[in-house]
Amino acid sequence: MKPNPETFRYPLVVLEETDSTNQYISQLCNDLKEDVAEFTTVAAEFQTSGKGQRGNSWEAEKGKNLLFSLVLYPTFLEAHHQFILSQIVSLAIKEELSRWSDDITIKWPNDIYWKEKKICGILIENDLTGHHIGRSIAGIGININQEAFHSDAPNPVSLKQISGKEHDRHEILSHILRRIEIYYKGLQLENFATYSAEINARYARSLFRRRGFHLYQDTGGQFLARLLRVESDGRFVLEDENGQEREYLFKEVQHIL
Ligand code: BTN
Repeated sequence: MKPNPETFRYPLVVLEETDSTNQYISQLCNDLKEDVAEFTTVAAEFQTSGKGQRGNSWEAEKGKNLLFSLVLYPTFLEAHHQFILSQIVSLAIKEELSRWSDDITIKWPNDIYWKEKKICGILIENDLTGHHIGRSIAGIGININQEAFHSDAPNPVSLKQISGKEHDRHEILSHILRRIEIYYKGLQLENFATYSAEINARYARSLFRRRGFHLYQDTGGQFLARLLRVESDGRFVLEDENGQEREYLFKEVQHIL
């Protein structure tokens, strides 16, 4: 994957292979401290130990996909607003992939889906400094040109499987970084209350299964419910068939596919 220096505006490290790009950039930041500029991105052709959410692994065929992590220093953001980082990264990816295909949605909290299948996973690791976010590493895995999946990931899909053609990984990477940057600058520069409400509304409109009753599972078992809203702190609010509101934090409820 070769960046075009004319159009690529972010410091980029491209590796043939690493354990995990999140791990690599976190180590780089620890070693070099603030010398690692915001939006520095580490992309790899292959990860030997790609990290997913909930301690899962992330598997992707060599040289076919986008596997990258970028670093931000959102010290202006209070820790209790950290969900907004997840929202802007998800929106940036959802909006870029929507240029290439219909039916792209965000599955709460931050998976990107095409129809009922997962095309992208996001792992955001925040370090707090007091009550603020000192550093945020956003790790993103997007299935781009992979044609078949052999791991036990339940329902993967790639852009090539959807569109039937190869895609330029570098172009997509560059566009996604630009979209994240635009949202991020908005967070920094605009009135936070107004801007974050706009982001939340946009996020709500982009959600997977945002209308109608669907099957979910919590510790009490499976149930049918409809989505009411996602609170700005990330809580997921459903209404079950009995009209009862049920509110969940990350990992407390699952969509049944
Ligand atoms: C998920 O479980 O859905 C999140 C997957 C995140 C995978 C990406 S690939 C690039 C970056 N490096 C990692 O080790 N993980 C993230």
